[in-house]
Amino acid sequence: MYLLFVNEMNYLNLGCGRRFHPGWTNVDFVSTGENVVAHNLTQGIPFPDNSFEVVYHSHVLEHFPKAAAESFIRECDRVLRPKGVLRVVVPDLEQIARTYLTALEQANQGSQEWQANYEWILLEMYDQTVRSSSGGEMAAYLSQADIPNQEFILKRCGTEAKILIEAARQQQTSSVVPESQLKYLLKRLYRFLRYPNFRRELLIKSLLGKEYNALQIGRFRQGGEVHQWMYDRYSLTRLLKKCGLDSIIQRTATESYIPDWTSFNLDTEPDGNVYKPDSLFIEAIKPAA
Ligand SMILES: C[S@@+](CC[C@H](N)C(=O)[O-])C[C@H]1O[C@@H](n2cnc3c(N)ncnc32)[C@H](O)[C@@H]1O
Repeated sequence: MYLLFVNEMNYLNLGCGRRFHPGWTNVDFVSTGENVVAHNLTQGIPFPDNSFEVVYHSHVLEHFPKAAAESFIRECDRVLRPKGVLRVVVPDLEQIARTYLTALEQANQGSQEWQANYEWILLEMYDQTVRSSSGGEMAAYLSQADIPNQEFILKRCGTEAKILIEAARQQQTSSVVPESQLKYLLKRLYRFLRYPNFRRELLIKSLLGKEYNALQIGRFRQGGEVHQWMYDRYSLTRLLKKCGLDSIIQRTATESYIPDWTSFNLDTEPDGNVYKPDSLFIEAIKPAA
């Protein structure tokens, strides 16, 4: 069954998070705003064939297992109109790998600056894939009061890193008053009486004992935060071709087949800065019927 509401503009942003244009149709696991439809994209795209002129997703494909990527791209193709544009943005594996090699050489030769950069690029490459709790080691790195290579990180990861650093600093300055034991127990009792899911969770926890932790890790890893695979210009082009798309081309953040692309402020900020400079931007066209 398909959702009926397609926004007038016929442009679709999948896995939008908090980065969406109100004139588009936007989808994510949970609704992050009035214009965001809540839907799990591993269950397909909830719109009829040939609905959209543009399908866009940024830093989403790498969150799908490799085996699910092809069916997701085929779904994107299905909901696109003939001659419609698919724009896929992912972290650029090639750029990460090249930076890693530079960092390795420089750090090995004793450069202090590159020792920190080496640490960071490994977090980009691995922490985002192997972590089993939200934020992982990357969040801890960004929470340091004095980040030794902040400029390097901001140059690579742009606005996203800036937001994370600012959030970590704010958390550190807001004073947290420790909760009394009584308040804690009353809160738990209230939740127990009020929420069936809380009772269910307590039951699962007591049944699973030590194995409850394994369930928590599994839930987290299916929750859309970790990277399940990575792409470069070669593998992403090959995937789009396999799914029947045409006119595949690598772009910059500002270039696009989509008219007035930068006016939507998805890959760029209003001041012209690139939102996620560590990205690979690839576009393709759905062949005419
Ligand atoms: C790294 S964020 C990117 C958000 C946004 N597109 C951006 O560029 O800032 C990945 C987003 O994909 C969403 N996501 C991952 N897997 C999903 C799924 N199976 N269904 C719906 N949304 C999913 C996550 O909830 C998250 O908002």
